[in-house]
Amino acid sequence: MNQPVSGFSKKSKAEKIEWLAENYLQNDPNSIQILKNYWNENASLQQLHDDFIENTLSNYYLPFAIAPNFLINGKLFALPMVTEESSVVAAASNAAKFWLERGGFKAEVISTEKNGQIHFNFYGNEKDIETFFEEVKPKLRKSIESIEKNMKARGGGLLELSLVDKSHILDGYFHIHATFETLDAMGANFINSCLEQMAQTFEEEAKHFEAFQKKGTYPEVVMSILSNYVPECLVLAEVSCNVEELSTKHYDGRQFAEKFIRAIDIAKTETRRAVTHNKGIMNGVDAVVLATGNDFRAVEAGVHAYAARNSYYGSLTHAKIEDAVFTFWIELPLAVGTVGGLTSLHPLTKLAFEILQKPNAKELMKIMAVAGLAQNFAAVRSLVTTGIQKGHMKMHLMNILNQLHASKKEKEDAMEYFKTTVVSHSSVVSFIKSSRIK
Ligand code: MEV
Repeated sequence: MNQPVSGFSKKSKAEKIEWLAENYLQNDPNSIQILKNYWNENASLQQLHDDFIENTLSNYYLPFAIAPNFLINGKLFALPMVTEESSVVAAASNAAKFWLERGGFKAEVISTEKNGQIHFNFYGNEKDIETFFEEVKPKLRKSIESIEKNMKARGGGLLELSLVDKSHILDGYFHIHATFETLDAMGANFINSCLEQMAQTFEEEAKHFEAFQKKGTYPEVVMSILSNYVPECLVLAEVSCNVEELSTKHYDGRQFAEKFIRAIDIAKTETRRAVTHNKGIMNGVDAVVLATGNDFRAVEAGVHAYAARNSYYGSLTHAKIEDAVFTFWIELPLAVGTVGGLTSLHPLTKLAFEILQKPNAKELMKIMAVAGLAQNFAAVRSLVTTGIQKGHMKMHLMNILNQLHASKKEKEDAMEYFKTTVVSHSSVVSFIKSSRIK
């Protein structure tokens, strides 16, 4: 039976691999070799990656691709995308090309406010906590002067502090809601540092507040942390064109637009569809979030909470026809950065920013929202016309061929054959089997 290990993080990389091999890989040299195959020959580059997290043994590759032809507010972009899903980049590129010929994407940042809370218990008199909060507020602000200095000099920093009484929902629960402008930084470290300092000052000052002293009841901080729910950090992206312009040789523009809107309405009504619909949006958003070294878990959590803001979970995109004009749009809460975190550390992330022509955070928000809208357009267009599997399986063909260890020649033949034949796992297996018998 495997034994627990102590001091693992202190071991060298070689010792860690040795321990892993002994305990979980039956000392299989092939398994160890897999880890080593992904080491980078460039020692300083490898060290940089080793240092991102603890206990690094190897690197985990994901493809880094670009989707060209994104016309956003009149400027052309090639979007760097990191994803494992075969059809995502192809779908994004198709949608970009489609809308390039119809005026491109328009995007606009609506707001950029981030927030965090100091959560605390208070079981005393409501009036006392309100009075204390008003008294302590300037001291809280003062206590973060040194943390805020640089951010303030650039035009950001703490915006507002307010007291929120939630004791009617959870006995004794209050919080201080703090709002921030963090400019081009995602701001997690800045916000958390400010909150933790203010929480300490809050508790310290409470000890000297007479009304608390008299009753022997003091507020007690439970925790201080930013919120990844950022409905005041919103971006809007849209496309529009005359319904006739949606016509292709396969379908009529108006009929297509109406079916497309119906699909959006279904995603607004039915949670089971909405989750998949929004997952498709996040295929595009996350790929750019990852390529630019941003925190995809934070973005995901915030976006899905936003999708549920009206007490039910619904579509993040909307569509309408008005005066024969089809409009399709998305509204997304996105707290992302172009400075700080991995953004200036990971060489591919730095390159992604070069490719995007060095955007600031607001521009990046627009680009990500457009990536989500484009991805959703591509998915819903396929769903209401050909179905999703045709395009998806075409892109997945190479993965199946690789699973079957197809040779270069077999791959070429298969690519040719499946141009006109529906791809499925079994049809590819049959094709390879029969070509090997010949
Ligand atoms: C697959 O990754 C994403 C889709 O399921 C999205 C959708 O259904 O809208 C195709």
